[in-house]
Amino acid sequence: MEDKKANIIAATIIFGLIVFMVVARVSLRLSKAFFLIVGADIAVILAVFVCLVIRGRYHRRRKLLENKFVSEGRELRIEYSFLRKVAGVPIKFKHKELEDATDNFKALLGQGASASVFKGILTDGTSVAVKRIDGEEHGEKEFRAEVAAIASVQHVNLVRLMGYCCAPSGPRYLVYEFIPNGSLDYWIFPRKERGRGGCLSWDLRYRVAIDVAKALSYLHHDCRSRILHLDVKPENILLDESYRAIVADFGLSKLIGKDESGVITTLRGTRGYLAPEWLLQHGVSEKSDIYSYGMVLFEMIGGQRNVSLIENGIDRSQRKWNFFPKILRKKLKEGKLIEAIDQRLVEAGGGGGVDERQLKRLVYVALWCIQEKAKLRPNMAQVVEMLEGHVVIDEPPDTQMIVVDLLSMDDDDDGGGGDCDHRHYRPKITVMGSDVDCNPPTSTSSSFSMSVLSGR
Ligand SMILES: Nc1ncnc2c1ncn2[C@@H]1O[C@H](COP(=O)(O)OP(=O)(O)OP(=O)(O)O)[C@@H](O)[C@H]1O
Ligand SMILES: [Mg+2]
Repeated sequence: MEDKKANIIAATIIFGLIVFMVVARVSLRLSKAFFLIVGADIAVILAVFVCLVIRGRYHRRRKLLENKFVSEGRELRIEYSFLRKVAGVPIKFKHKELEDATDNFKALLGQGASASVFKGILTDGTSVAVKRIDGEEHGEKEFRAEVAAIASVQHVNLVRLMGYCCAPSGPRYLVYEFIPNGSLDYWIFPRKERGRGGCLSWDLRYRVAIDVAKALSYLHHDCRSRILHLDVKPENILLDESYRAIVADFGLSKLIGKDESGVITTLRGTRGYLAPEWLLQHGVSEKSDIYSYGMVLFEMIGGQRNVSLIENGIDRSQRKWNFFPKILRKKLKEGKLIEAIDQRLVEAGGGGGVDERQLKRLVYVALWCIQEKAKLRPNMAQVVEMLEGHVVIDEPPDTQMIVVDLLSMDDDDDGGGGDCDHRHYRPKITVMGSDVDCNPPTSTSSSFSMSVLSGR
C-alpha cells in the first residue's frame, strides 16, 4: 500500500514536471530560461527515479528478511510444539476445542465421586479422555493436586496428562491419553452388564500387580518430591490395549519432601482401601499407598471385593460380613489357596492356568502390605523385587486385619460390598469385632482434619 502511494507521488511529480517543461517551451520558446528549467526538471526527474530504485531495493530486502523471520518463527513454533509433545508438557486447551473433541461431552467413559470422564478425539486424530471436575472449591483443589502430581512425571505405568482447560468460571478439565480397556474393576469383578470388561487371566493379573508396584515405586522413590497417590483401588488402575496397567486419578494425591516421613492431611480416599493409621489419626505416608495396594492384590486374587455382605433372606439381623483377606489367610494356613481364588480362573484353566508359586508369592506380598503396623510393610521397591522373584519372601506375621467403617454402615446403606457403593470415605469407624475409640469430630461430614504427624 505504501509502495503504491510512493509510485503515484513519483508519477505525479514527473508528470507535473513534464507538463511544466511543455508550458515553458510554449511560453519561453528556446530562450536561456527555458533551457535552465529543462535542466532542473531533468535533474529532479532523475532524482525521483533514483529514489524509487533505492526505495524498491530497500523494500525488497526488508520483505525478504521479514519472510525469513516468519518462516523461522513458524519453524520454531513447530519445533517447540514437537518438543512439548515429546517431553510430555501439558498444553492449554480452549473450552471450544474440548467441546468439539468430545462432541459436546457425549461419550461417558466413567464417573467418579467428583468428576466425569468423556471420550474425545483431537483434531490431529489423537484419542483422549477428558476429565471434567465439578465443584467450585473442592474441584479447584482436586484439579491443582492432579496437575501438580502428574504434570511433571513420566512413567510407562502412569497415565499421561496431555493438557488442561480452566475457564474463569465453570468446571475445570484435564485431558489424558485414552486408555482403551478401561479400569481394572471391569476385568476382575464379575459384572452384571455385558459388553464391557471380562475375566483377566492369571498371567495378566500378575503382570498388572507388577506394573502397579513399579508405578508406585517410581512415585515414592524416584521423583524429585515423593508423591503419595492416596486413592489406589481397581477403579483408578486402567488397562491399555495389551492389558498393561496404567495408574490414574491423582485427584487426592500429595507431594511431600524426600525427608518428610508423613503428612498431616484431611481424611479422604475410598473405604476398604484406607490404611488403619489414617483412620487412627497417625498421619499418612507412602505406607498408606502400600496398604491400599495390598487390598487391591487381594481383590485381584479373589475376583471379589474384600468386604462383602452375605444376606440371609429378608432378616437383616442374619446379615454376615465377609472379609476376604481373612478367608485367604485361613486357606493359606490350610494349604488350600486354590480354593479361595477367583473360581473363574480355576474353571477356565482347569487349575493349570494359575501358577501356584506366583499365587503364593502374591498372597504373601498382599499380607505383608496390609500389616497394621505401617513399619512392618515393605516399601514399593521391595514389593517389585518380591513379585519378580528376586528375593525370598518370609512368611508374613499374623495381623488383626482391621476392617474399617464398611462393617458399621447405616441401616439404609446397601452394604458397600457390592459394586454400586464403593465410593469415597464416610467416617464411622469399627474394628473387626470391637469398636475403636477414634470417632472423628464430625460424624456427618465426609472428612476431618488430622492433627498428629506420623512419628515413623
Ligand atoms: N484416561 C482414561 N482412559 C479411559 N478411561 C478412563 C480414563 N481416565 C478415567 N477413565 C474412566 O473414568 C473413571 C473415573 O475416572 P477418575 O478415577 O479419574 O475420576 P474420579 O472422579 O477422580 O474418580 P474417584 O471416584 O476415584 O475420585 C475411571 O474409573 C475409568 O473407568
Ligand atoms: Mg477415580
